[in-house]
Order: sequence, then structure tokens, then C-alpha cells
Amino acid sequence: MDFTGPVELWQKEGAPGCPQKGLPCSPDSSELVQECLNQFKVTTTQLRQIQASLLRSMEQALTGQASPAPAVRMLPTYVGSTPHGTEQGDFVVLELGATGASLRVLWVTLTGVEGHRIEPRSREFLIPQEVMLGPGQQLFDFVARCLSEFLDAYPLGSQGLKLGFNFGFPCYQTGLDKSTLISWTKGFRCSGVEGQDVVQLLRDAIERQGACSIDVVAVVNDTVGTMMGCELGPAPCEVGLVVDTGTNACYMEEARHVAVLDEDRGRVCVSIEWGSFGDDGALGSVLTAFDRILDQESLNPGAQRFEKMIGGLYLGELVRQVLAHLAQRGALFGGCTSRALLSPGGILLEHVAEMEDASAGTARVHAILRDLGLSPGASDAELVQQVCTAVCTRAARLCAAALAAVLARLQHSREQQMLHVAVATGGRVCEHHPRFLGVLQETVKLLAPECDVSFIPSVDGGGRGVAMVTAVAARLAAHRRLLEETLAPFRLNREQLAAVQAQMREAMAKGLQGEASSLRMLPTYVRATPDGSERGHFLALDLGGTNFRVLLVHVAAGGVQITNQVYSIPESVAQGSGQQLFDHIVDCILDFQQKQGLSGQSLPLGFTFSFPCRQLGLDQGILLNWTKGFKASDCEGQDVVCLLREALERKQAMELNVVAIVNDTVGTMMSCGYDDPRCEIGLIVGTGTNACYMEELRNVAGVAGDLGRMCINMEWGAFGDDGSLDTLSTCFDARVDQASINPGKQRFEKMISGMYLGEIVRHILLHLTSLGVLFRGQQTPSLQTRDIFKTKFLSEIESDTLALRQVRAILEDLGLPLTSDDALMVLEVCQAVSQRAAQLCGAGVAAVVEKIRENRGLEELSVSVGVDGTLYKLHPHFSRLVAATVQELAPRCAVTFLQSEDGSGKGAALVTAVACRLAKQARV
Ligand code: BG6
Ligand code: GLC
Ligand code: GLC
Repeated sequence: MDFTGPVELWQKEGAPGCPQKGLPCSPDSSELVQECLNQFKVTTTQLRQIQASLLRSMEQALTGQASPAPAVRMLPTYVGSTPHGTEQGDFVVLELGATGASLRVLWVTLTGVEGHRIEPRSREFLIPQEVMLGPGQQLFDFVARCLSEFLDAYPLGSQGLKLGFNFGFPCYQTGLDKSTLISWTKGFRCSGVEGQDVVQLLRDAIERQGACSIDVVAVVNDTVGTMMGCELGPAPCEVGLVVDTGTNACYMEEARHVAVLDEDRGRVCVSIEWGSFGDDGALGSVLTAFDRILDQESLNPGAQRFEKMIGGLYLGELVRQVLAHLAQRGALFGGCTSRALLSPGGILLEHVAEMEDASAGTARVHAILRDLGLSPGASDAELVQQVCTAVCTRAARLCAAALAAVLARLQHSREQQMLHVAVATGGRVCEHHPRFLGVLQETVKLLAPECDVSFIPSVDGGGRGVAMVTAVAARLAAHRRLLEETLAPFRLNREQLAAVQAQMREAMAKGLQGEASSLRMLPTYVRATPDGSERGHFLALDLGGTNFRVLLVHVAAGGVQITNQVYSIPESVAQGSGQQLFDHIVDCILDFQQKQGLSGQSLPLGFTFSFPCRQLGLDQGILLNWTKGFKASDCEGQDVVCLLREALERKQAMELNVVAIVNDTVGTMMSCGYDDPRCEIGLIVGTGTNACYMEELRNVAGVAGDLGRMCINMEWGAFGDDGSLDTLSTCFDARVDQASINPGKQRFEKMISGMYLGEIVRHILLHLTSLGVLFRGQQTPSLQTRDIFKTKFLSEIESDTLALRQVRAILEDLGLPLTSDDALMVLEVCQAVSQRAAQLCGAGVAAVVEKIRENRGLEELSVSVGVDGTLYKLHPHFSRLVAATVQELAPRCAVTFLQSEDGSGKGAALVTAVACRLAKQARV
């Protein structure tokens, strides 16, 4: 055993010697000894108080209480689950801070097979005193040098090594590989490290060393390594306890109880940092005079008071203080002292452990005392043994009280009557001290009788656990890279968006001129917005969005009143024959008329028909092609108004007076225009997407006349059908397109609208699963089901208030077996897809507003856009992103977005009302 130790950690030294006249041992020496030993007794009542007080501090820290600062820190780690036992690979583990002045380097091989363990290779390096107390860079350079020396000695292949850093000091972690040192504890005090990311310091030092490429992928507290390396047993191992140079524990807490985390499902490992318990004075009643002196003479006076009663760095020192005190009072060693007895750090944990071990016999105690320069008398060995026992028993009992607090916390948060749990134990005090664990276990039983606790020694001094965490971290980092690669094509920069805007402008101009263009730019024959003088009752139909609606619209002096009913259009009808579809529409109208008492009346009717139509007048619209989920036969190329009339005839119903057929964008613009005359653009982002706007008639080639304006239905969903968007299109867009009922068509719409975003996300999730990044690589039948991932899930998942809990609930409902890492990645996929959609939409709006501004020769344009559609209205960030993109790409236009409240049926009725008013005026 190595008995050389950090003598210099304590600075004072006394003068050794004997009383002048070699005093015989005083007769009351055993009384004096007892008096001292009594101070180290901690009653069960005191233990219970410590247990309760620590539990309170733990709970205060969990709730994020700032003032007064709780006595323990409760630092969340980024370890969220205990190991599966399936991790595998080779890892380098660096261990700093657990065991005194030593640095351990290990090569750990995880086999991924339960119970099959390969002995790690390891080497220990002694850290010189001046390095422990010198500049931080020197310490990390030392570490990097030892690491490269270790790797040089083994022909292990040194490229791309994954390293786990076991760092036994209090740190704020912000990632598995990001950890800021709060303060040094135990025997370290290197300058320039507190407040720094220790992983970065290590990486920098490795780079300076320049030996080989090592990837530092994880950093963990030593307690976490201890817990994570625990062999699987009957009870889950959810606590890691370390009693080495210092002491601390970690345990698995419910994430929802950790205020600083935005996570309300699952568990997270929390490092308690219980060494600082009592720094607020809570340990007053159990502190002895020896504890006070020890604290004053330590590197960090006033800090880590609990640790200083338990940790191995301090036990030898406490024994030395007591023995020196007794010797100086003549109760031991004939009143003689020695240099070692009076030198701080002169007695080490190893001395104490050996002297206390009764099986070694008193001869061994004598030998050790003589090594320490003392001349023990006949009864001294026994008394010294009693001192060692008292100091160590107190340590074990205090440690038990702290552990009992953790168990109580676990039991409470798990709401279990009887807690079955395994505690992984590590550190030299637990491992080598003869009685420590025994006393600890016995006391835990006394303090936490309702907990069934098994104690399991850690494997490879926690090295295996660190390797486990490193394996998980390496896997997660690789997954993150794959996720980033997958999502990169969805992240559009300003140049790409400006190019979309420019292409759109060009396609608009060509479409208006009747040249080949993916934008049809259809004239709508809507030339004027309502002037407020329109009156009357109108019928309206609204077909083509999520719902089919029949409406009765009353336009009066006081405003517009609407009565409407929603009817469903089954997919079989939308994709059946045209006759079936229009018969169904007529059935709905007849039903509505009957319910509203309108049967037999022929009210003027406005028909919102949200598909591309070539109009030759307001009441004539030839369906060019179906879009979205519609594919009823024999309709394309037909006048929709005629199809409706024929159906009325077939049903022998009364003729309807169809005055206007309008696109939903137009209906939306008119509806919003009723309240805001600046509304000259209509935008839909729902099942499909499209826009219309007021264009100068002189620019519209197909319509006679040059004066005034006409609303143009852009049919921008088809933008890019000529291949102009191909550079932005991803393989996922291609898959969605190919599986749709109109491959090659509506390419812009398929990147933006509600009918497709869920499908894009589903295809990305399938891809990530096939790479093993998501759902542990398990393909599920549910994810392979078309349209299972609804676009409304994007809105729900991305909603800030619902957080990851919601993601998980949604995915679990879909039968997807996800971890919390999966939930985060799914959220990022949704964000990337919806952000691209909103930005593309914004680029389109930017093209439109700039066109209007230039048409009018204005420096600045102020204009409103009427918007409708479930995606735009329900998604938490979509509207904001559209507006931001427009502002970025069209800075000279002040654009206000108005959400349509009443649907486009109201607008269709208003178009009808205007037409009726104009017709009436013409007749007069
Ligand atoms: C409705 C309009 O409010 O929004 C419809 O009345 C329009 O005309 C629809 O088609 C678009 O949104 P979605 O999400 O229903 O397709
Ligand atoms: C000290 C450290 C802590 C560590 C413990 C055991 O208390 O602050 O992080 O876990 O020692 O080594
Ligand atoms: C589709 C239709 C279009 C409609 C849009 C929004 O793109 O072709 O006419 O405006 O969906 O519903």
C-alpha cells in the first residue's frame, strides 16, 4: 500500500517531542479518550434530523429555489436511463478527482452481451502536488500527456477513439459533453478552471499534445459512472454512492420534478453533491472541535462540511487530530508526539483502515504507530483502535443518514409502499475499509426500514459505467450528425428564398402574358371589392377545403350574418364519378334548403370552388384539373356551373341562380376586404395552398380592356411543375409526390400545404428509422401507413406550451416505441419541414407584393393579405415565419395579414352581391 500522501494539503506543522520528564501515562487516560470519543457519537435522533434536513434541501434545490440557496446543488446530468446492457465497443476512460492525487486511464471494451466482461486495461498516474494546485492548463496538459503515454504503450489503434471523462467535481452540465466546473473540492485548486467547460479544456490539451485523434464524447460525475456500470440485478440500480477521497451520490429522479429541465416524462440522473450539505450551518450540533480545526486548515475552509466528516481525504486527518490532542494531554504514547503526528496529512486513510482492522492484530497497530515515529505503550494500540473506529463509525452513520434521505426521496416520488432498489457503491472507503459498508448498511436499515436495498460494488471503479455513458453519447452524436444531414436540404438560406421569389416573379409575368409558365394566372372577373351598399340574402357553397359547406348569407346595413352547415364528402365520392360528386352536392343543398325553410326559393348563389378554373365570365368556370384529394371523373374540361345544373336536373330540383363562381383565395380576399379596403391579396394555406391578388388589367393578356384591375387567381400550387423547383426538392418531396394521386403536379403546394407536410415528416421518420437513428431502428407497420402522421400533429408537437411530453403522447398513440431522444428529434424534423413551408410561402407572398408595388410605381406599398386555411391558423409558428420572410424579401412593402374569420363562403356571397348590384344598376 502506498503510504505517501498529500502531506502538504494542510499547511501547519507543530514541533514534535516528549514532556520534559517522560510522563507515565496518566491514570485517567482512558477517561480522556472516552471524552474525546463521545464527541464522535451521533445519536439516532440526530441522524434522523440530518436525514430530514438533507431531504428538505434536496427538494428545495429540485424546485429551483434560489434564495436562500439550498444546501445541496442537485445537478441534473444528461443521463436519462440506466443501461440496457447492449452497449458495445472500445472506449478510453479518463478518471480524475475521485481518488486523491491519482489519474486513471482505462481501456474498456463493452461486449454488448449480458454477463460477458472483458477485464479493462488501466494505468494509474500520480499527479504531483504542484499540478493539483497550479494553473489549470498545466493540469490538463498533464492529463493529456498521461493519456498519450498510456495509448503509446498499447498498440490499440488510436484513430477516432471515443473518450469518456470521469470528473469527480461539481459541474453544471448542459449536454453529455458540456460541463462547467462550479468549484474545486477535495485536494484540487487549479486556477482558471472554475466557470470553464472542462470538456473543452481537455479537448484543447489533447490538441496541444497533438498525439492522436480522440473524440471526447461524454463527461460524467464519478457517482454516475458508479451507478451506470452496476451489474444488472433483481432490483433496478438507481443510486450511485461514492465514498472515496470525497463523498457524493446520484440517483434517478423523475424529470418532471427537476425544475431546470423542460421535460416532464421519464427520469434523469441527478448528482446531489451532498458534500456541501451543512455549509449553511445545519451540521452545528454534530461538529466537534476537531472538525472545526480540520476545516480551518483545509484548502477550502467553510465548504464541503459534510464531506469533511466522511470523505477518505479527511478521516486520517481527523484521527491524527484526536491522537495528537490525546498525546499532548498525556493520555497516549507517554505524552510523546512525533513529526508525523503533528504534521497535517501525517496519517492517511490507509493507516486508519489498517489500524482499525481487528483481524490484523495489535502488533500491526504497533508497527504502524512506530512507522509514524511514535512509541506506543501497552494499552495504546487498543485506544488508538477505538479512536479510528469512532471516527469511521461516525462517517458511515452520517453517510447512511444521507443515503436514507435519497431513498426516502425515491420512495416518495415513485409513490411506492416498499421500495426495492440497488445502490452501486464505489470508492476506496467503501471498498477497503473493513467496517464502513457494514455500519452503513445496518444504519440504513434502521433509518429506512421500508426500503429493500441491495448494495452492489461498482465495476472497474466506475470505468465500465463511464464507458456505457460514452457509448450512448457516441451513438447519440452519430445520430445527430445523420439527423442534421437529413434535414440540411430543408434549411433554406436567404439566397435560396430570394431565388424562389425571383422565379415566381418571372413565372407570374409569363403566365399573365399567356406564355408557357407553371403559373396559370387565371382571370377571375372580379374587378371590384364591395362598397357597402350591397343588400340581400344569398346562398353560398364552399367546396375544396377540409369541409364542404352550404351557407345562407344575409348582407344588411348592419353587416353580414351567416348560417351554415358542414357536410362531409367521402373520399369515395371525391374520387368517384363526376355525376356522383355533383349529385351529392345537390343533395346537400336540398337538405340545407329544407332545414332553413328555403325550399322553392331561388336565391342568387355564389360558389366557392377551390380548384383551378378557366373563367370566361363570373358565372362560368371550366375546371382545368383537379388538385388536392379530388379526382372525380369526367369533370376536367367541363364548366362547373353546368355540372351543377345537370345534377339539379337529374334530381328534378329547382334551378339555382348561380351568379358567381369564385376560388377560395378570392372569396377570402373579398371577405376580408369587406372590413379592410386595403385587402388586395387572398392567401390560403390549408389542405392546399394558393394566392390571388388585384392585377392591373393592362397586364392581363387574355382579357379585353386596359383600364382598372382584375383579381387574378395565381394557382401557385402548380409553381415549379416545369422543374424550376427541382434544386430545392428533396428525395422526401419526390416520394410524397410519387405516392400522390397527381404525380408531377402541384410541386409548390406539396412542399407547403397541410395535405402533404405530415407525409413529408412521415417519410423522413421512415428514413431516420432505417438509419437506426429513431425508434431504435425498429420499423413499425403504423409508420408505414400512408397519412398516419397528420399535419395537425406538427402544430401540436411544435406548440411551445406542450413541450416534449406532447410529442411522446402523440407518437405513443401511433404505436411508435420512442425514447426521449426520439421525441426531440421528431420535434426537430417537424420544425424543419414546417419552417421550409412557411418560408417558401413567404417568398411567394414577397413576389406578389413587390409586383403590386412595381405595378403602381410606388416607393413603398402598404397592403393587407386576407388569409385562411387550417395550417396557417393552427400552426404555432407558421404565420410568424411567413411574415418574417416577407419582411426580409420585400422590405419596401408594409404587409398586414388578416385572418379570415367567416370562411370564403362569405366572400363568394359578397362577389354575388356586388354582381347583383352592378346588374341592377345596369338595368336602371
Ligand atoms: C375555409 C374556407 O375557411 O378555409 C375555404 O372557407 C378554404 O374556402 C379553406 O378552402 C382552406 O383551408 P382548409 O384547411 O380547410 O383547406
Ligand atoms: C466531491 C465532488 C463530487 C464527487 C465526490 C466523490 O464531493 O464534489 O462531485 O462526486 O467528491 O468523489
Ligand atoms: C389548390 C387549388 C386552388 C386552391 C388551393 C387552396 O391549390 O388548386 O384552387 O385555391 O388548393 O384551397
